[in-house]
Amino acid sequence: MTASSQSVEPFDLVIFGGTGDLAVRKLLPALFHRFLDGQIPASSRIVGIAREALDDAGYRASLREALVGICDAAKLDVFLQQVFYRPLDARKDEGWDDFAAFIGAQPEHVRVFYLSTSPELFVDICGRLGHYGLNQGKSRVVLEKPIGRDLDSANQINDAVGKVFSESQTFRIDHYLGKETVQNLLVLRFGNALFEPLWNSAHIDHVQITVAETLGVGHRGAYYDRAGALRDMVQNHMLQLLCMVAMEPPSSLAPDAVRDEKLKVLHSLKPIDESNVAQLTVRGQYRAGVAEGASVPGYPDELGNTKSNTETFVALKAEIANWRWAGVPFYLRTGKRLPDRVSEIVVTFKPVPHSIFNPDAGTLSQNRLVLRLQPDEGVKLWLTIKHPGPGGLRLRHVPLDMSFAEAFGVQQPDAYERLLLDVVRGNPTLFMRRDEVEAAWRWAGPILAAWSASGEAPRPYAAGSWGPSAAVALIERDGRTWNEDSE
Ligand code: BG6
Repeated sequence: MTASSQSVEPFDLVIFGGTGDLAVRKLLPALFHRFLDGQIPASSRIVGIAREALDDAGYRASLREALVGICDAAKLDVFLQQVFYRPLDARKDEGWDDFAAFIGAQPEHVRVFYLSTSPELFVDICGRLGHYGLNQGKSRVVLEKPIGRDLDSANQINDAVGKVFSESQTFRIDHYLGKETVQNLLVLRFGNALFEPLWNSAHIDHVQITVAETLGVGHRGAYYDRAGALRDMVQNHMLQLLCMVAMEPPSSLAPDAVRDEKLKVLHSLKPIDESNVAQLTVRGQYRAGVAEGASVPGYPDELGNTKSNTETFVALKAEIANWRWAGVPFYLRTGKRLPDRVSEIVVTFKPVPHSIFNPDAGTLSQNRLVLRLQPDEGVKLWLTIKHPGPGGLRLRHVPLDMSFAEAFGVQQPDAYERLLLDVVRGNPTLFMRRDEVEAAWRWAGPILAAWSASGEAPRPYAAGSWGPSAAVALIERDGRTWNEDSE
């Protein structure tokens, strides 16, 4: 599954939203890295689409700034020769004939249409692609999250896209599934005899999933304020991580074998609704504070001094009602403007049933398996050992620590590098099937509805803190604490 181990057919990759943040900060750099590894065939074309009146030269110049630090300028020039730009408005006819002719000129190419726009435009864009027959042949469409803002709107989008592209042509991207550690979770769980026998409620005490960011919403306020942390992070990225931890062993890595197992987890999530939302969830919104040593404004100020009920932080306690996981809480938390950028999954095992050690040897701690997604991807297994040397038997809790970068000496590819090439190759294993998106909305919808019915504002927290104190209380009520490696 490495991004560079397999060949790639010539392709045309069209990015709607080609001047947007995601395209410039993530997609083009990912493609440039693949180019440097020799994985972009020479006849392939990357086409940026947006409403701005740019031409190829103008687009290339605007990308140069984002890409120049990656490698030397000569290689960048060669790469940029494969990059093009077409100004188009999804809701106006102008330019579409030319665009269709441009793409139609290489009918043997795999065609990927990456919709990195607001979901409201997905239907218009797909309608036009269908009208010009660009959905024929080896064509694929990539839908960026969020797919809708609730179950109904997700269904409308999926129905409309489904009229133009079949399910096997539709790639719903969740870039967390392309992260190295998430891939490694599959290998750790199913490539080692050690973990799977313990991977259940008899041996696991609880699971924590944290995705903490130091950045605020910045210039994404218009999008973010309509979304909030539950829609932006929990309904997709965090639930996908939870599924990878909790799913039953699939019979193979075949796309549907994996996705069938994830779907069963989503279906087994216990509902959170008006009856229990106050006990099981905490919403927060950052106020002015300090981030990375500098004073930063609060969320309402970033929005332009507007009062908002949108959460920038969520902590919640989820449970999976099945034989493997009954009674094992999954604590999830995510937020903007937290003290560190850290994403990790922490699996805490149950204590040993009986201690044979004298109390003065020290306390026995529970084993923990920490899978770090970022910043430094790796795996840590906390064990109890004897403190070396004389001085009596003293217990120490120490990690077996492996940083992938240190161990393998290579920079880990960005998630988008792997996922973009998976689309070109037509491999949907790491993409969400329609029923997964629906099941995730079916669980997230009642939480949003219950928050809205309660009328309560999100709890304020200072930028640079770990969220509202209620998030600490959420886990401490159960006699547990958030993993301190990350705090
Ligand atoms: C995106 C969210 O999907 O993921 C952003 O819309 C968030 O709000 C980002 O910042 C986090 O991704 P990563 O890979 O930086 O953890």
